[in-house]
Amino acid sequence: MNRLGLPRHHFASIPSTMDRLTELALQGAPEGTIVVAGEQTAGRGRGGRSWVTPPDAALLMSVLLRPKLAPEELSPFPLIAGLAVAEGIEALVGASLPARIDLKWPNDLFCTGRKLCGVLMQARSSRGGVEFVNLGIGVNINTPRESLPDTATSLAALTDTTWSLEAVERAVLDRLADRYDDFRTAGPAAGLAAWFERALYRNENVRIENVGTVVSGCFIGVTATGALQLRTEAGIEEIVAGDLTRGPRPL
Ligand code: BTN
Repeated sequence: MNRLGLPRHHFASIPSTMDRLTELALQGAPEGTIVVAGEQTAGRGRGGRSWVTPPDAALLMSVLLRPKLAPEELSPFPLIAGLAVAEGIEALVGASLPARIDLKWPNDLFCTGRKLCGVLMQARSSRGGVEFVNLGIGVNINTPRESLPDTATSLAALTDTTWSLEAVERAVLDRLADRYDDFRTAGPAAGLAAWFERALYRNENVRIENVGTVVSGCFIGVTATGALQLRTEAGIEEIVAGDLTRGPRPL
């Protein structure tokens, strides 16, 4: 197995692990390099949103991968990465959690209906293929319930226990290494099947909003490229980007 997490660059406070890891990648850092921060002053999430967590309460990490793939082969990987993070957290914490970790397309982790973790993937490619992947992972670990918005949760809020950030980091990296190896050697099928098995709102009516456009339908699956499959009145539609919400419920 390809171990991830070395070299490890730790910062007490940094604008964003994404930027620091990209700098290291451009300087030729090897696959497996990670940047971890106690606090981010300009943390960011999907869709240009900001990602804010109290100091030393969350796992804030970017992981450098250098898969020998064509850019289009990478499209299912954000889902598989989210799956690996969920499995890694459960390997450490699972017995204490009140419920299984669910996955919300494309790569959010939810537990008891609240967001526990977000994953942000950025990749740089050239004509020769993928140059590097910067996989950003933010897990709410020891944030107290009263400091979280109603839509979010943390491992501490879910389990009434304080968790070691380093132990969660190691568990996530170990599972990510397994799923990454499987993805590169065997393709995305097994990871995507395991992803859909945990998918929030599967076989329910959902809405996908993407820059002002809304598509509604029944969430019936994901394609081999990681696109979401909706059964709509017009037939099966494949959605590659957007924000997923539940509903409307059938009358
Ligand atoms: C999302 O849910 O929108 C994705 C959030 C990703 C947050 C992580 S925290 C570590 C890394 N650094 C960042 O600035 N963002 C990612």
